[in-house]
Amino acid sequence: MPTTPGPIPHHVAIIMDGNGRWAKQRGLPRIEGHRRGVETVRNMIDATKAMGVRYLTLYAFSVENWKRPPAEVGALMGLLEYFLKREIAALVRDKIRLRTIGRTHELPEAVRRQLDAAVAATAHFTDYTLVLALNYGSRTEVVDAARAYAAALAAGTIQADDTSWESFARHLNTADLPDPDLVIRTSGEYRVSNFLLLQAAYAEFVFTPVLWPDFRPAELAAAVEAYGKRERRFGQTSEQLNKPDAPR
Ligand code: IPE
Ligand code: IPE
Ligand code: MG
Repeated sequence: MPTTPGPIPHHVAIIMDGNGRWAKQRGLPRIEGHRRGVETVRNMIDATKAMGVRYLTLYAFSVENWKRPPAEVGALMGLLEYFLKREIAALVRDKIRLRTIGRTHELPEAVRRQLDAAVAATAHFTDYTLVLALNYGSRTEVVDAARAYAAALAAGTIQADDTSWESFARHLNTADLPDPDLVIRTSGEYRVSNFLLLQAAYAEFVFTPVLWPDFRPAELAAAVEAYGKRERRFGQTSEQLNKPDAPR
């Protein structure tokens, strides 16, 4: 893998897109693209870990993806179950903590069983966290958080005067996760498709035309290199960031 100069993002989040088109270009069924996509997932875990990234979030299934043909949804669930079963030993060996975001309780039972086992077996690892976004959508996440927040207000565990972004964010799925620094979307689409809308408020975005099954460590390194050249200003001026003693 090429060396990557510059700062390494603490948290990389990826919208893994283009499996279907990859398969179509080869005259293969869409599921074959998803199968190849699973191999890219494996490679990206290794590649991000080797770079020093601490959190990798992968958008694997959106709340909107249930609208796909039932055969494709079923095949995706089968692949997820297969991936978890196959990877659990490697996750433990490599000291990778597995986490999920999304309404995972609505996933098929066989998938939930594998997920629960993998999450439990890796819960004590601290150096690297793989977050799978499964049956995830920002809008449902916000609705769920708002409901929990309203309940906490009604119960008096939060006072109306103390409402803040920080106290609200503690009710999101990502409560104990840092915000993503870099969001990558493959396949040449320029949209966020309901992914981490609030958490990516100050993320840097990299869009690449490469389809997910073709995404390699070199493409990851290029995205991280582009990230390293950005100036993250968080509302301040460039002068303030470059001259720490300038008036603030
Ligand atoms: C991404 O690839 C995988 C999932 C959304 C589950 P797609 O299946 O969306 O591939 P395209 O966009 O049809 O090429
Ligand atoms: C986004 O990809 C969801 C995942 C990568 C899981 P989609 O392919 O579902 O997004 P749209 O429908 O093209 O926006
Ligand atoms: Mg797509």
